[in-house]
Amino acid sequence: MEPSRGPTGARPEQGHVAPAALLLGAAAIHFAVAPEHVREYPLYGLLFICAGVLQAGLAVALLRLRSRALAAAGVASSLGLIAVWALSRTTGLPVAPVPWTPEAVGLADVSAGLLEAATAALLVADLATAGRPVAAGRWRQPAALAAAALLTVSGVTGVLRAAAPAGGAAAMPGMGGFGPAAGTSAQPPAAAGQPGGGRVDVFTLVAQTATIGGATEWTFGGTVPGPELRVTQGDRVRVTLVNHLPVSTTIHWHGIRVANAEDGVPGVTQDAVASGATYTYDFTVPDAGTYWYHSHQDTFDQILRGLFGPLVVEPRGGAVAESRDYPVMLYDGPGGWAVNGTGGDLHLDAGPGERVRLRLIDAAAPGMLGTPPEPVLVGAPYRVVALDGQDVRGPQTLGAERLELGMGHRLDVAFTMPERGSVRLLTAGGGPTVTVGSGPAPAPPARDDALPLFDMTQYGTPAPDPLADATHYDATFPLVLDTQGLAPNAGTRLRQTINGDTSDMGPMFEVRQGWLVRLHVVNDTAEWHPIHLHGHELTVVSKDGQRVAGSPLHLDTIVVGPHETWDVVFRADNPGLWMLHCHNLLHARMGMTAMVRYQGFTTPYQLGGPAGNQPH
Ligand code: C2O
Ligand code: CU
Repeated sequence: MEPSRGPTGARPEQGHVAPAALLLGAAAIHFAVAPEHVREYPLYGLLFICAGVLQAGLAVALLRLRSRALAAAGVASSLGLIAVWALSRTTGLPVAPVPWTPEAVGLADVSAGLLEAATAALLVADLATAGRPVAAGRWRQPAALAAAALLTVSGVTGVLRAAAPAGGAAAMPGMGGFGPAAGTSAQPPAAAGQPGGGRVDVFTLVAQTATIGGATEWTFGGTVPGPELRVTQGDRVRVTLVNHLPVSTTIHWHGIRVANAEDGVPGVTQDAVASGATYTYDFTVPDAGTYWYHSHQDTFDQILRGLFGPLVVEPRGGAVAESRDYPVMLYDGPGGWAVNGTGGDLHLDAGPGERVRLRLIDAAAPGMLGTPPEPVLVGAPYRVVALDGQDVRGPQTLGAERLELGMGHRLDVAFTMPERGSVRLLTAGGGPTVTVGSGPAPAPPARDDALPLFDMTQYGTPAPDPLADATHYDATFPLVLDTQGLAPNAGTRLRQTINGDTSDMGPMFEVRQGWLVRLHVVNDTAEWHPIHLHGHELTVVSKDGQRVAGSPLHLDTIVVGPHETWDVVFRADNPGLWMLHCHNLLHARMGMTAMVRYQGFTTPYQLGGPAGNQPH
């Protein structure tokens, strides 16, 4: 097509400067929003980059030559992009982080839409008058330029503002660089006036592969650990899992007393979420504290590959007393233990005199023996303020002790930064060190294994506890933890069992709603077994026959050491079908698993099946 030159031949025709400016504005917004979308879901990000390139290209062409075809292309592309935008806000798009789910309307997308609408309007007017100057032409251009500038600025501001709480999931301190905002992570979008008065926290977790340190990992949100989810006690939490992994997966909310249907156990409370599919969890968080989330499909494999992250519930009515509040997640990295995304040393900010809380979360799968990590804190007196998310009553100040952490277990320590020097959390055996604050490092203890072992059953201040003090139980179930068969290197399949039961889900303990149930856990092995009950709180009565002498202990994971015996009780107040298993994932895979079933409760789901449900 022969382009028609403007009156002066060499100079661009003025009539097209305005639409070009509007298009450039829209392109700028698309480019600004692209990085966030690339991170979220590359294909979706590519859409935005293409739109930006198309618009920038058209704008440059419109500036350089006057052509009806070019004007028509400008109209068509603008209207097309407006149509796509309208779809994304009403029915949702097939290619999006969450397919076929409408997105929220924001400053950025409205600005881009207005820029495109104005472009189309100007170009249509131009086509209609065949380029003849019209009376309105005098004000049209300055008005369009002003509108272009204004909308571009507002659109890009919208992108920057939205970038902070993207998806409501804030980056974890220490993962790929952290800032002072760590610990005061951005709040997810909230909706007021929900039933129960709580807010609704909305998150999207995209399960996706990511290349980390040269290795291909399975991740939530592209990082290991996944993003820190931080909510407030009483909130309603809605998490959409978008599965872009090549395999099916689920999310279990470890330690949170969710309704059974939200527990994330494939074959028990749901079907595993297939590759390419989406699933939304919706639950209320009744208790404040430190928790974590992880895949419960093919758990042994999927946690080791990176599918887990921290979940912090702040107390109703205000944050914790410590101004520096850091989850510290220990897990298996490519070359041994890693912490918050680094296999090296992790540094966390804190100034002299500042109060610090470290929320230690053990997501590291121990070997067959299951020896738990025993980090040691040096550099300041500290207190263990919470165990498995529940506050310790009247915790005493401690010196260097080995803080035993079984897999799945959480332990919060709190301390005040010294006037000079840093505080360090040391892990034995060449594991990473966590350094809090700057300044000279405290001297490490001469010999780790000579340090006292922290004993939670003797720690804190005693108080009456209705469950621990109960004298009558509606049921007592013995759980004998045992090993059957020979060692793996003897070539025989080894089984780990509860009560010798070798069925897929192990023994079934039937309870009735309202019952007070006692579990008498006997470890007949020379290994450690972190025993975890889903959906309930375990109150410890005694260990090796010794009653708890310190603060009442409310846990979801009890770390049962070699040949130890633990008595714990729970109130059957959350109907459903719940897993009760060793959280040494290797042991669970080998059969150390059981179920608690409320009488009359049935599930429509099954192990295996078309969804390939495999909860261990
Ligand atoms: Cu941390 Cu069955 O789970
Ligand atoms: Cu075990």
